[in-house]
Amino acid sequence: MDILHVSAECYPIAKAGGLGDVVGALPKYQNGLGHVAKVVMPMYQTKFLHSNEWDIEFKGNTNLGSRNFDYTIIRERTNKLGYELFLVDIYGLLDRERIYGYDDDVERFAAFQIAVVHWLTYAPSKKPDIVHCHDHQAGLIPFMMRYCYDFNWSVGHLKTVLTIHNAQYQGWIGWDKSYYIPSYDRWKHGMLDWQNNINSLASGIKCADKVTTVSRSYLEELRYAANGLENLFEYERGKCVGILNGIDTDVWNPATDTYIDNRFSLENVAEGKLLNKQILCDQFNFNINNPLIVFIGRLVGEKAADILPDSILASIYSLQHNVSFLILGSGEHDVEWRLNSLTSQFPGNYNAVIGYNEKLSHQMYAGADFLLMPSRVEPCGLNQMYAMRYGTVPIVRSTGGLRDTVIDMGDEGGYGIRFIHPSVGDVIHSIHRAAAVYKETDTLNTMRSRMMQIDNSWDNSAQQYIDVYQNL
Ligand code: ADP
Ligand code: GLC
Repeated sequence: MDILHVSAECYPIAKAGGLGDVVGALPKYQNGLGHVAKVVMPMYQTKFLHSNEWDIEFKGNTNLGSRNFDYTIIRERTNKLGYELFLVDIYGLLDRERIYGYDDDVERFAAFQIAVVHWLTYAPSKKPDIVHCHDHQAGLIPFMMRYCYDFNWSVGHLKTVLTIHNAQYQGWIGWDKSYYIPSYDRWKHGMLDWQNNINSLASGIKCADKVTTVSRSYLEELRYAANGLENLFEYERGKCVGILNGIDTDVWNPATDTYIDNRFSLENVAEGKLLNKQILCDQFNFNINNPLIVFIGRLVGEKAADILPDSILASIYSLQHNVSFLILGSGEHDVEWRLNSLTSQFPGNYNAVIGYNEKLSHQMYAGADFLLMPSRVEPCGLNQMYAMRYGTVPIVRSTGGLRDTVIDMGDEGGYGIRFIHPSVGDVIHSIHRAAAVYKETDTLNTMRSRMMQIDNSWDNSAQQYIDVYQNL
């Protein structure tokens, strides 16, 4: 089958979180299964792109309301990613330093989606069988393909799939900006609307032929906690399916990872991890004998980053300083500030690196003993799967994909630590469990070896997506 993924992120070109990892890997695995999967995404800043690796694929001109704009689709020539990659260049709108966070994000992603559908409509190239949209930044595409007069005569029959990576973010657009949507069948007004706004994600759910979420548990949870879309998920449950994300085992492999100094595998996991831990301990002035617990991620409410400072403070005291914590992340300023200010309080037990650092993240997965994820909401979560592949024990709140991928060490065949509430009390209790098991070297090594043998690669899930497409 011919599949076109439409996404705001794709690793290694642009990544803000797990969406980039997923879209950067899934097409490669789908191609491995004998299909032709491609990706189209916005072209942000051009400075990272080597000009000799890109060809102009198509040039078009279309409108965002009354604003007429040119766009260029460029194609990556070398195919080194394992799939064809197309970038949409829209001068003045998409070419920014960051992916998100601008006042005109609504305009930027509306223009991106219009350009993609315009290209699909007018380009002479063969049309895909499936247009696979990811999150709200591509959520209006199924509507545009089906109901916008400029496009539906050409692409209205193509099948669409929407994958929801995170339903917290929905892409609301006030009806006063409805002129951004190219001229459409007014009887279909309701296919854009949710609670008196244009809601890009809700529209995608209503209009796509199939909707997937990135884990089964998350799909269940959305029926009672979906940031206002609960009824819609209940109503559309027949077309929704949960497919657990995989991980790219070429990128996330402790035996070949070029970001880490000491590569290791199942055979020498204990020694390999210790060498990587030593580097972190030297860098951050930690005692190598203490269990090293890390957090990597966006410092936002969904990840329960706000409960980290109190949990860490209380744990360091209650464990009499026999524990170390390292945080890597960025997000809400007050959380960043509180996490930063702990450094001077616990110089030998705690440090925080505020910012985004791909290399350090790999070093932390490799060198840490435990990875903490107290998430309030976690549609899938990739961090825990990376950690497991690097023999790092996940300490997770039992929600969404965390619940589907981590078995508590107290249960048959378990290898992780799970807790129920995203609360300081539950986190402290779990950290104490971690500190206790850290002293039991044999148990720790058994858990490491168990989780390193789990196959969380995309092989299985990539096929599940193909099955979804084929059933349409
Ligand atoms: P989400 O997409 O909700 O942020 P995921 O667990 O799916 O969460 O994916 C997060 C991805 O982003 C992982 O690859 C993780 O290593 C990476 N990541 C998050 N924050 C940082 C950071 N500050 N520096 C480096 N990598 C990060
Ligand atoms: C989202 C979710 C995360 C998931 C990722 C990739 O950002 O928050 O849980 O792993 O998308 O699907």
